[in-house]
Amino acid sequence: MITNPFLDPDRQGELYGNATRLASRSSALMRAKTAGRFVPEVIVQLAQAHRAGADRRLGLVADIGCGRGTSSRVLAKQLKPQQLVGIDASPALLAAARSRAGHYPGTQVAFLQGDFHQLPLPDDSCELAVAAFCLYHSLDPGRAIVEIARSLAPGGLAVLVTKALDSYREMDALVAGPLDPRAERHESLYATAHGGNLADMAQWAMDLVAVEREEHRFEFSGLDHAAEYLATNPKYDLAPGLYGNPGALAAALHEWHPDKPITTTSVITYLVARPHGGRT
Ligand SMILES: C[S@@+](CC[C@H](N)C(=O)[O-])C[C@H]1O[C@@H](n2cnc3c(N)ncnc32)[C@H](O)[C@@H]1O
Repeated sequence: MITNPFLDPDRQGELYGNATRLASRSSALMRAKTAGRFVPEVIVQLAQAHRAGADRRLGLVADIGCGRGTSSRVLAKQLKPQQLVGIDASPALLAAARSRAGHYPGTQVAFLQGDFHQLPLPDDSCELAVAAFCLYHSLDPGRAIVEIARSLAPGGLAVLVTKALDSYREMDALVAGPLDPRAERHESLYATAHGGNLADMAQWAMDLVAVEREEHRFEFSGLDHAAEYLATNPKYDLAPGLYGNPGALAAALHEWHPDKPITTTSVITYLVARPHGGRT
């Protein structure tokens, strides 16, 4: 039985079947952020720093697990490739990505439904493949990384991004006790692809070019703000009526905790890789 909700196929609809849920979760987290660069911009900088033939215009860029297309927009705008393809398993998020995409002169943009274990991309086609915050939804991320390597053109670059196993650990303490006695013992949502194992997995399929880490820090203004984030966190076993209901969860938190700012962190790992030697 799969107990990690990020890996359970039956829970993907709950997680990514609705763009509004993801947007409100991201918004609660982003409002809390006090340190850490904007991830899509770091991806752009890494691609610019490490790609071969940087004076030449990029051909195809793939944003794998693109979600609502936040990074796709930045990649299209700042890298100005000939083609940008966002790929995601969720039709709802792809629809949001299409409607949020702007017009990028000279760049053809498309969003395709697909599974990163079987990418809808020809062999050797991508000059840049980005997979941010999605590989931890795979029971076998190594297989997805092999797929990414297959899709890379000679000289192409992959940028894989993930979080640390213990990300947001301080939030567990808020929910622990009466709300979810096991809160601090659930498996990390990032168990299969995290900052500690991503490089080992990737080097089977590609040559590592660079690994960069940055701590992101967050300060939630109080229990109401924390509840906005926690209510959308599938990790906890909350009583019916609390999961997905920030108001009710906030009321429950107020019963057990003093209302004060809550700080937490997540270390982000960026891994840059290219196809095995001979294909650069
Ligand atoms: C946390 S979101 C990340 C979205 C985006 N990359 C970002 O950085 O904001 C994870 C995304 O991975 C997608 N996903 C999960 N499993 C997938 C799979 N097997 N193939 C393609 N996309 C998948 C989900 O639909 C979701 O959009």
